[in-house]
Amino acid sequence: MSKLSIAHFGLRSRNLPDAIDWYGKAFGAKVLYRDEVAAFMSFDEEHHRFVIWDDGETQPKSEVASGVDHIGFACDSLSHLADEYMRLMGLGIQPSLCVNHGFTCSIYYHDPDGNEVELTADNFPTKEECTAFMRSEAMKSVMQPPFYGASFDPSDLAKMRQNNASEADMAALGIN
Ligand SMILES: [Fe+2]
Repeated sequence: MSKLSIAHFGLRSRNLPDAIDWYGKAFGAKVLYRDEVAAFMSFDEEHHRFVIWDDGETQPKSEVASGVDHIGFACDSLSHLADEYMRLMGLGIQPSLCVNHGFTCSIYYHDPDGNEVELTADNFPTKEECTAFMRSEAMKSVMQPPFYGASFDPSDLAKMRQNNASEADMAALGIN
């Protein structure tokens, strides 16, 4: 197993103040360095998780452009995912898509430049159970376009969380 881990993402923006505002809200990220062109931001002990810049030459990106399609961030649990959904709704940040992928539930957002950011949580208590699902026939039936899973209404997730639903009950969202 590699000792490498993900340090940060570099994002081009066409409107740096908007991007800083969005990542500040969505991740609670703070600016640790800023100049006319770039901002280094972090939401944890790392010195930067995002470096965002606008050098005046940034072009809009097609949604189907090759390269990185989205970046996914893990929540500890489905309860945590629900909490993040409710926190972001409170900040006026709405998801573009919510999908139960069978082994995870994911909520997708777009930053002001159209980059897709995924918040995701495992549907099983252990990584072993998640990988067992991926290797099962059930995975093949889930991995079908257009959503590669079952779309769900995030307000249902929020309601379940507010009613102290179990992780197992939340893991069935959109499936039944
Ligand atoms: Fe993903």
